[in-house]
Amino acid sequence: MSAQKATAIACANIAFIKYWGQRDAELNLPANSSLSMNLDRLTTVTTVEFSPDYDDDLVILDGREVHHEAKQRIVAHLDRVRAMAGLQDKAKVVSENSFPVGAGLASSSSGFAALSLAASRAAGLELSERELSILARFGSGSACRSIPGGFSEWMAGTCSEDSFAKQIAPPEHWDLRDVIAIVSRVHKRVGSTEGHALAPTSHLYPARVASVADRLAEAKAALLKKDLTTLGPLIEEDAVSMHAVMMTSRPPIYYWLPSSMRLIHEVRSWRAGGLEVYFTFDAGPNAHLICQAADQAEVERRLEDMEEVLEVIVSGPGPGARVMEL
Ligand code: DP6
Repeated sequence: MSAQKATAIACANIAFIKYWGQRDAELNLPANSSLSMNLDRLTTVTTVEFSPDYDDDLVILDGREVHHEAKQRIVAHLDRVRAMAGLQDKAKVVSENSFPVGAGLASSSSGFAALSLAASRAAGLELSERELSILARFGSGSACRSIPGGFSEWMAGTCSEDSFAKQIAPPEHWDLRDVIAIVSRVHKRVGSTEGHALAPTSHLYPARVASVADRLAEAKAALLKKDLTTLGPLIEEDAVSMHAVMMTSRPPIYYWLPSSMRLIHEVRSWRAGGLEVYFTFDAGPNAHLICQAADQAEVERRLEDMEEVLEVIVSGPGPGARVMEL
C-alpha cells in the first residue's frame, strides 16, 4: 500500500460549563455534559502519514520528538484509528501549536481533535462529525468539543455512541472574546487525567454533578440569546464549583496561585465599575476573561498594567476541525 498522508487544523476550546470527573474512565465518558467555545487563536496543525516503510510510530511535537507517556497516548490514539481502518502501517505524526510552547495552556483539546481528523483521513476513513467527535473523546475528553465549530455542547450521553459534542451556535453567532491572562508558564503538577480520577474523593463532587444540568440549561439559553449578564455569573459559578471539587479532593489539588486570586478580585471590581467581564479557569492558574468584543481592548489594557500578568492572548469564537489541502 502506498503512503497515505493528511493534514488537519483544530482550535482549542474554553469550557463555560466544565467537564471534571468521569463515569467511565475507559471510554472517557464524563460525569456531566459541558458547554464550550472554540478559540480561534489557539490552534494545532497536525500531519499524519501512514507508511509500510516505517518501523515504528514517530511523533514530533513543536519540532521535538516525543517519548514515553506523551508518545504512548498518541500511539494509543493511532491504534484506535488503525483498528477502525484495518491498517497495520506505522505513522509519522508532526504537530505544531500556534500558541507558545509551555505557555501554561492546555493543548490536548486542539491536539487530539486535529490528530483524530488527520489520522482518520490518512487512514482512508471518511468519518461524520459525530464519529470524529467520539473518536476525539477517546484521546482527550475536551477534544470532542473542538470538532464542531463555534459553540458546542458535549452531551454526557448514556453510552459511547451518544457521548459526543454538537454545535449549538456557529462562530458568527456572537463575537465573544476570551482574553487569557498568563500568570504562570510552569507545567501543571497534576494533569487533568489524574484530576478526573480524584474528583469522586471530594465530598462536594456529588453536589457539583447534581447541579450541572440546570446550570448548563440556563447557560445555553443565555448563550443563544447573547445575554452575557446572565451567562457570565453561570460561567464563574461553574469554574468555582469545579475548583472547589479540586481543592477538596483527597489529596487536594490547588491550581490557583495568589495571582489567580488577585485576578478574580480585580475582575469583580472592574465589573462593579461598569466593565462587563467574567472569569473562568481550567486545570491551571491562568485566567480566561470572557467579555464582548467592544470591551476587549479595555480588559487587555488593564491586564497589561498588572505585573503578575506575563502575557495576554486574545481569541474569538473559532471554526471546527478541518482538513488542510497543502
Ligand atoms: C478543566 O479533556 O484535559 O479543562 O480527557 O484527561 O484529556 P482528559 O481531560 P481533559 O479535561 C478537561 C478539564 C478542564 C475542563 C473542560 O475543559 O471542560
